[in-house]
Amino acid sequence: MASNGAVVTAHPIASKVGLEILKLGGNAVDAAIATQLALAVVYPAAGNLGGGGFLVAKLKNGVELAIDYREKAPGKAHADMYLDPDGTPRTDKSQYGHLSAGVPGTVAGLCESHRHAKLPFRVLIEPAIRLAENGFVISRAEANSLNALQEQFRRYNTQTPAFVRSTAWKAGDTLVQKDLAETLKRIRDKGKNGFYRGKTARLIVEEMKRGRGIISYKDLKNYRAVPRDPHSFEYKGHRVISMGMPSSGGVLLHQMMKMIEDRNLQAFGFHSPEAVHLMAEVERRAFADRAEHMGDMDFYKVPVADITNEDYLRERMSDFNPEKASISSAIRAGSVALRESQQTTHLSVVDKEGNAVAVTITLNNSYGSKTVVGGAGFLLNDEMDDFSIKPGVPNLYGAVGSRANAIEPGKRMLSSMTPTIVLKNGEPYIIVGTPGGTTIPTSVFQALVNILEFGLSAEDAVYRPKFHHQWQPDVLTIEKAFPADVRAALEAKGHKIREVSAIGRTELIVVHPGRRIEAIADIRGEDSAEGY
Ligand code: DON
Repeated sequence: MASNGAVVTAHPIASKVGLEILKLGGNAVDAAIATQLALAVVYPAAGNLGGGGFLVAKLKNGVELAIDYREKAPGKAHADMYLDPDGTPRTDKSQYGHLSAGVPGTVAGLCESHRHAKLPFRVLIEPAIRLAENGFVISRAEANSLNALQEQFRRYNTQTPAFVRSTAWKAGDTLVQKDLAETLKRIRDKGKNGFYRGKTARLIVEEMKRGRGIISYKDLKNYRAVPRDPHSFEYKGHRVISMGMPSSGGVLLHQMMKMIEDRNLQAFGFHSPEAVHLMAEVERRAFADRAEHMGDMDFYKVPVADITNEDYLRERMSDFNPEKASISSAIRAGSVALRESQQTTHLSVVDKEGNAVAVTITLNNSYGSKTVVGGAGFLLNDEMDDFSIKPGVPNLYGAVGSRANAIEPGKRMLSSMTPTIVLKNGEPYIIVGTPGGTTIPTSVFQALVNILEFGLSAEDAVYRPKFHHQWQPDVLTIEKAFPADVRAALEAKGHKIREVSAIGRTELIVVHPGRRIEAIADIRGEDSAEGY
């Protein structure tokens, strides 16, 4: 609980950096920038300079802001680049190594965000430089994850990165990243140009040459982070502000919330088979639309208004059967023509001025492509796999897509990231988001429904077991801790159930009346909440 401001992130050091910046007089945007830079050092699985993300903010001056710093397909990319001559899809190439990397967006995104910050950029980047240069002490979990990837780090790198060691990492070791510190200093001194031009750009392009990747000087020079309108909608008197295309997150959340809005979930109760079944069926239908209709709107006309129209959504639910699971192969994306018309990370911040910021950033898979830019010390993303590399071929998260999300030069791959802010009486009320690939929108959906419909505490809304349906594959994924009797009831309705150890790492802030700020870090990781 805090009264001035709070920061929740996936790493204790990063949360402390955010808090430091708030106490120094920075606003929530300052804290979000410094935290992301710190995460690029202390949380290399997902924090990054070589990836991308989305920022959603509600500023105290009333501005509702979305900044898109999603990676882009390089200029030399093309629709069939991950297909063998006989058409065989090569997800090994879209998920690992140089060719899997999109043009990074993070540094441009941080610089674009900085327009809304108060402190000089060099102040915000200083903690990250210090952490990279002097190192930081790693936990057992961090040691384990580095050890597990030694073979892949060797295979996908042309120069030995700081993560590789001849002896095993153990808890208490210090991870020092000198090359990364130098890259951060170039960004401190030259801003965006310290990354997209000059020495860093040269190191990226040289790495591409050594590893047969395709990112060019021109791709780097032309990269822009884009301020966009957030995707917003009303839900029972609340205003929900989330990320629109090129993330599917905000639109999926909108569809799912509207499909349950009039169905009196409260009467069923939290984790009742009726409620979980209804929510899973809603998720199934939203994801069928994702596969058909969603992609980068700079390249493809996504019928956003049509697929969020309330009549359309009512029609989508017309074949819902409370007793029986639908079969995904029989559920198609809604027709709009007829109607005319594993690792990622999230951070939530509020400050004492009333600004709220939700940021989700990613390299896509844990440690992205596993390729570190030689001499520059940062990992490249494997975000190209978020495109539909061939219609119907599942990506890392089992998601399928079509023309809407096909690869084209300069296009942004479709995301599921859902940084979200809910307003009550016009003021930030809930700030939420999570990693988890396609489970992101459904986790955010559940966090919101848990609070707004079931009246759960903020803690329970995050901690209690989650579930997920994404149309294809036709399975209902549940967390191991999910109640066995509810599972059995769902199976009796015909759901095919798959169990996973954890879904997401949700970071949630609730601002209660009287500005009592409750910040919840997910217990599924080593996440941490700080406030003052
Ligand atoms: O943008 C997306 O939807 C994915 N690249 C996010 C990946 C992710 O959340 C991995 N986390 N576990």
